Amino acid sequence: MSSLLETVLLQQQAVKLLLGVLVISTTIFTATAAAEVPNSSCNRTCGSLEIPYPFGTSEGCYLDSFFLITCNSSSSNNFGTSTPTPFLRVSNIEVLNISLDGELRVSTYIARDCPQESNYNFRNRYISLRLREFPISYTKNVFTVVGCDTLGLITSFASDKNYTTGCLSACDSINGMVNGSCSGVGCCQTPIPDGIKDFTVNVEHFNVSEFSPCGFAFVMEEKTYNFSTLDLQNMQDKEVVPLVLDWAVGNQTCEDDNKNTTGFACKAANSECYNSINGLGYRCNCSSGYHGNPYLSGGCQDIDECETLNHGCAVNACVNHVGSYSCSCPMGYQGDGWRNGSSCTPVIPKPSNSKNIIIALCISMSLLVLLLGGSSILLGLKRMKLIKLQEKYFQQNGGLILQEHILNHGRSMETTKIFSNDELKKATNNYDASRVLGKGGYGTVYKGVLSDNKEVAIKKSKICDKSQIKQFINEVILLTQINHRNVVKLIGCCLETEVPLLVYEFITNGTLSNHIHDISRASSLSWERRLKIATETARALAYLHSETSMPIIHRDVKSTNILLDDNHTAKVADFGASRLIALDEIEITTLVQGTLGYLDPEYFQTGQLTEKSDVYSFGVVLAELLTGEEAISSNRPESYKNLAMYFGSAVKEDRLHHILEDHIVNEANIEPIKEVANLAKACLMLRVEDRPTMMEVAMELEGLRIMEKHPWGKDNQTTEETEYLLNTTTLSLNIDIGVGSSVSVVGGHDSMINQLVKPLDDGR
Ligand SMILES: *[C@@H]1O[C@H](CO)[C@@H](O)[C@H](O)[C@H]1NC(C)=O
Ligand SMILES: *[C@@H]1O[C@H](CO)[C@@H](O)[C@H](O)[C@H]1NC(C)=O
Ligand SMILES: *[C@@H]1O[C@H](CO)[C@@H](O)[C@H](O)[C@H]1NC(C)=O
Repeated sequence: MSSLLETVLLQQQAVKLLLGVLVISTTIFTATAAAEVPNSSCNRTCGSLEIPYPFGTSEGCYLDSFFLITCNSSSSNNFGTSTPTPFLRVSNIEVLNISLDGELRVSTYIARDCPQESNYNFRNRYISLRLREFPISYTKNVFTVVGCDTLGLITSFASDKNYTTGCLSACDSINGMVNGSCSGVGCCQTPIPDGIKDFTVNVEHFNVSEFSPCGFAFVMEEKTYNFSTLDLQNMQDKEVVPLVLDWAVGNQTCEDDNKNTTGFACKAANSECYNSINGLGYRCNCSSGYHGNPYLSGGCQDIDECETLNHGCAVNACVNHVGSYSCSCPMGYQGDGWRNGSSCTPVIPKPSNSKNIIIALCISMSLLVLLLGGSSILLGLKRMKLIKLQEKYFQQNGGLILQEHILNHGRSMETTKIFSNDELKKATNNYDASRVLGKGGYGTVYKGVLSDNKEVAIKKSKICDKSQIKQFINEVILLTQINHRNVVKLIGCCLETEVPLLVYEFITNGTLSNHIHDISRASSLSWERRLKIATETARALAYLHSETSMPIIHRDVKSTNILLDDNHTAKVADFGASRLIALDEIEITTLVQGTLGYLDPEYFQTGQLTEKSDVYSFGVVLAELLTGEEAISSNRPESYKNLAMYFGSAVKEDRLHHILEDHIVNEANIEPIKEVANLAKACLMLRVEDRPTMMEVAMELEGLRIMEKHPWGKDNQTTEETEYLLNTTTLSLNIDIGVGSSVSVVGGHDSMINQLVKPLDDGR
């Protein structure tokens, strides 16, 4: 009886749905008939910039949120008048030009080092750009350094292309420089690799002279830069330069079976799909013989070749076809239409009605499609009921927030796997106590083995209260967006259970805290390893902070949240407390969260959270790495319970060597250790403004690592050799600085390289 009723109900629902589909499809048809653009009221300009679809300034006008252009009408330009300015997504990156050929021009800043300027600014020496969506064109852009005795380095913090490169320009006068030629004298250039979406540029000007008061470094569109000797002075007036990005749609290729899906972006008939030449995704182009916007249905219009002058047909014989043209005499005439300059003579024509047949075919085909769609919906309805129960948990567990996010940020969620409850139960032996890896503020972490023998760490939230749900979803969203080799990777999650679960990659070698404070392990943590771990952690945090649209503050940086794998590669974990900051709110006031001993005192007092709070916590981790001491310890005198205080006073009173971990003092050169100690001290500054940014910290550590691995810069080269290098200016060195990174420097001079790691103590 009840099943009969169910069937009836189902049928009624089906009819309603079918009607709904019909209504929707008619609206779509009328909409496309009325206007070609996704939404006919879309604003397609911002200032002087034309914004073709798939880009757009508001919802319904762009393909997906990656193509959002924010048009800020209130920003005023250099002339004080207010013109609308377009920005990439929700960022401060200004868009200069969009072309449907897959190029996007944005403006980027010049890094400058002017040691003589009274308002000496540390910040200007570091410029970084971080894009989520589109890679930087490696064919159109080039890294350029302008100045005499100027070293420029460029680094990428992104996950798979971890590299550093750069060039050095050394010269002792303006003689020998050639306008229009950037070939090593006063100006040097080096290409950038493909597939990078971020860079940080660092410039050092070593020798101030009248003709070269500053050093400059920048990445810019190669063909728009023309070196002039005036740039040694005048580059100072220029603030931004154009940079070309390669944009593409999605992360699939044309070969992937996506051409038949509704999401396929080459909407126009007579359009073709091309794979991106730089990174993932594809582009569309109108087929030959057509022009227009291939991303719009009906966007590729026929080119009327007969309008062009060199079609080569006889007078009046050019016939434009859709997609091509031919030369034949017009109806009622005959002759050789292909002969240029000849003419046609009258004859009797025959009409054709093939057009009507095509229209009839189209109509019957679309009816068939509608019918097929209707029946598959009927089948789907039955399955929907089964899913309902799990859906209840799913909703309770914040699935809706997550779903909404997936809708908005479709692409980044693709690698996240949704696990079933049974799968995870099996993997953890029903959450057996022997599988517990650790317990944190937000829950318990179990070790699990999936059916394909992959080891994972499964995080189970403690209790399921509503305030934690938001935090949980926050963590999921955050982590799915992050793909960095020094950040613990989220593999998936399970929302079907009462308590939501997160599945992470399993990091084999425990926490950094274990390694530092366990006496048997600490000795195997050499100085080189410590420096590597510090650099990698700084890189990961800098990466999080430099997110263009929404910087991520970790909020709980500590040695127990830094995991190590078998190669002692650092992986930053536990984003339970982290949150995004929208661009317009640089500071946010929240409940103070964090761990005693690592907590930024400024944040603790004021509740004002900035990225600099992570810098402070990282400073404590650095102190821990240097001294082997706990962040909070009652073994030390009362006033030095806090490692930050203990360390700070030791550095201040020049007692550093008393508190350093014994074996690193014995094994390593004291100079780099002192540099790191200075860096830690800078991070631990009480005033937020006095602390360096995470990017600056990462760059300094990076520089130290280069020196550590290749102490060529420190060897006492003979004076003649140094002179020689300075005068000739082109010696190319390629130095491998570890996994996938190398520095290539044109020219070479010891004190110059050494200064790379100096500025911190000079600057404060
Ligand atoms: C944009 O690029 C096109 C083609 O390269 C060019 O014709 C146009 O002038 C550029 N517009 C701006 C504002 O740079
Ligand atoms: C600085 O530049 C001047 C002029 O080019 C040169 O004579 C001098 O040797 C340079 N000093 C150093 C330390 O390189
Ligand atoms: C380069 O051009 C600028 C002005 O265009 C001129 O003042 C300068 O002398 C030129 N330099 C050389 C080396 O030709």
